Amino acid sequence: MKISRSAFPEGFLFGVATSSYQIEGHSFGGAGRTHWDDFAQTPGNVARAENGDFGCDHFNRLESDLDLIKDLGVDVYRFSTSWARVLPEGRGQVNHQGLDFYERLVDGLLERGIKPAATLYHWELPSPLADLGGWRNRDIASWFGDFTDVLMDRIGDRVWSVAPINEPWCVGWLSHFMGHHAPGLRDVRATARAMHHVLLAHGTAIQVMRSKGMENLGAVCNFEWATPVDNRPENVEAAARYDAIYNRFFMEGIFKGSYPDRVLAGLEPHLPQSWQDDFSTISTPVDWCGLNYYTRKVVADAPNEQWPHYSEHVGELPQTSMGWEIYPEGLSEFIKRAAAEYTGDLPLYVTENGMSAPDVIDGGVVNDPHRTAYLDQHLAQVKDVIDAGVPLKGYYIWSLMDNYEWALGYEKRFGLVHVDFDTFERTPKESFKGLAEALRR
Ligand code: FCB
Repeated sequence: MKISRSAFPEGFLFGVATSSYQIEGHSFGGAGRTHWDDFAQTPGNVARAENGDFGCDHFNRLESDLDLIKDLGVDVYRFSTSWARVLPEGRGQVNHQGLDFYERLVDGLLERGIKPAATLYHWELPSPLADLGGWRNRDIASWFGDFTDVLMDRIGDRVWSVAPINEPWCVGWLSHFMGHHAPGLRDVRATARAMHHVLLAHGTAIQVMRSKGMENLGAVCNFEWATPVDNRPENVEAAARYDAIYNRFFMEGIFKGSYPDRVLAGLEPHLPQSWQDDFSTISTPVDWCGLNYYTRKVVADAPNEQWPHYSEHVGELPQTSMGWEIYPEGLSEFIKRAAAEYTGDLPLYVTENGMSAPDVIDGGVVNDPHRTAYLDQHLAQVKDVIDAGVPLKGYYIWSLMDNYEWALGYEKRFGLVHVDFDTFERTPKESFKGLAEALRR
């Protein structure tokens, strides 16, 4: 890698990220059924109908996976906790094997000198709660608060940081409007409620953790730069609409206690009654904000379609195997915008950034110069914003290892470590070795 640790300020944190359903193996250890199992079992939703039953077998390989993180030399491990592993029915009966697992994970990190950064919800909603309407049901905020309470009773004294929800846009819009993720709905009313309730759940969880005296609590949102297809005013406005739904709704809710007019234009009729009253919970102060960033979208007006009447176009930049354009400038734009418009002096972290590629093992080696280049390009942007005085305090790579990439199954490889999904054998890629060396420099 071009970049080295010494180019960053003292105390700047490097990390790697994963999530529970994508790696643990949900058929082990008493975990309950999740709406991703239901979604994957429904024809047409997931490539090859793959699910998280085995993941990367991380549940059974915890210690050696933690050793890999240690070998990489990062400071932080961002992992998530599965609601259905802790409370198989979503409420009530606790699965002690689940709590034991997360305790071993946290203690194992601390023993290795790595900071445990927990995310409480990374999308695997327990099926019994989905049966009750899932994110459409307002009660989910208190169910989630109860889950937070149970889990933090066990690990809350040892985690370094906690974010309640990973990527509220994916929970709300991608899953209830676009139908690409579980529960696979395409319903504007469900979307409005899910987008609001996910923020209510976020604020409720923050309050639960505050009442336990916990600190270093944050919010993690995802961002996609919206480029208008050309400079015609209607296309510029379409990109602004895309930007408002994707990049502004959740930030504005959490950090300003309001929603953008461009989003209310479509969603307000479908929001729950007295939604404004919930901002006192939603915008409960947090200690930091995390940004997940991968790509940009080229957007045009689509006046003949229903709200939000925009369409996405293929841009001219190089793409990853996700079909995502590589646009590093978007990362620094979003970090600067977060500080300037939403978070002020709060510490910011890049909580996910990385790329997928069809990486293969050849003679025991996985050569992935594309990933090294991607990381170098994005870290150069990170360095620029730090030099410009933005309080960016860390950068975490998605992902430690190849894993279950949701509706695209096991084919999209984002890892620094290659995983053979037949044998679960791990092979650190060349990017892993390059990063480890850069972090020692
Ligand atoms: C993010 C998700 C993560 C992974 C990456 C590629 O949106 O948080 O689980 O799927 O994208």
